[in-house]
Amino acid sequence: GKSGYDHYMLKEIYEQPQAIRKCLRERVNEMEGTITVDDLADLESSGPVQFVACGTSYHAALYGAQLLRERGIPAQCFLASEYDVDSIPVSEETLVVGVTQSGETADTMSALRGANRVGATTVALTNVVGSSAARECDHAMYIRAGPEIGVAATKTFASQQVALALFSSVISGECSQAFVEALRDLPDQVQSVLDNSTAREVAQTYEDADAYFFIGRGYNAPVALEGALKMKEITYKHAEGFAAGELKHGPLALVTDRTPVFAMVSDDGTAAKTLGNVKEVEARDAPVVAVTDSRETVDQYADFVLEVPETHPVLMPILANIQLQLVSYWIANRLGRSIDKPRNLAKSVTVE
Ligand code: F6R
Repeated sequence: GKSGYDHYMLKEIYEQPQAIRKCLRERVNEMEGTITVDDLADLESSGPVQFVACGTSYHAALYGAQLLRERGIPAQCFLASEYDVDSIPVSEETLVVGVTQSGETADTMSALRGANRVGATTVALTNVVGSSAARECDHAMYIRAGPEIGVAATKTFASQQVALALFSSVISGECSQAFVEALRDLPDQVQSVLDNSTAREVAQTYEDADAYFFIGRGYNAPVALEGALKMKEITYKHAEGFAAGELKHGPLALVTDRTPVFAMVSDDGTAAKTLGNVKEVEARDAPVVAVTDSRETVDQYADFVLEVPETHPVLMPILANIQLQLVSYWIANRLGRSIDKPRNLAKSVTVE
């Protein structure tokens, strides 16, 4: 059941500390400062990595590819429906990773079958043990989020992000004590975001907006896309996410005093540029909601600040996304939407 929550989605948002703990269990060794994933014990890979995924899982995959590239491994990310082994350089050297919560998404399955056909090594990053993707691939890494009933992916996205952070360490062999400690602290930090969030106030203030925009740079760019997708799915309102730098190349024309802009501002070296983008939207009178780990940097520019605790820069987007989930949930709730089963959507999309 819903354990007293009005919707499965809210329950699943609140399950995130536990979901992340499960994903980390026996994979992170704090004493030795190492990460090992038994699921991938016999995986040997030194070639380029290609991710294939759809929807929210694609946003997680974008983050996974960033992490690998940052660690010196060539990594690309493809929408599964656009992945065509005849027109993309994929070979026996390639590691193809299907990111799929359900493990049943038709587009992702078709991409993975194509990759297997050309002899690539394949990995399913999935939540469902024994799912079609797990069976199709040479290896399966489980995200261990537990069953997700709400159609909108929430805890499974957080678990995918965490699993991909682990995956990138395993593949690259790179890990630091600071990163391991940040992972250890992550579930408690997620809990503190849930306990202290003022997202409900933001929802109340902006439920009537014409549209919502989300901007972020670097590791927060995929979260901007995810924030917008979640908003569309459950509130049925127009929302778009952009890499912050793209705003001025077109979307800025849509920005008015009726289009709140959610800006992820992380103290990771990208803050100054993102603040530049925030000033551009402010000049058009758009309300600004900053999601940030450094309140003092944004205070003077933001109408609302949704704070997240300081963490390793790689993990900040996991915390930021939780604030965005809550905003979308509370707007949808105020608008009386069918939150757990949005119109026209299915939990698992089994047609191409
Ligand atoms: C969004 C959502 C969908 C799925 C997509 C892929 O909240 O749930 O966008 O992420 O259909 O599904 P999986 O991960 O099962 O392959």
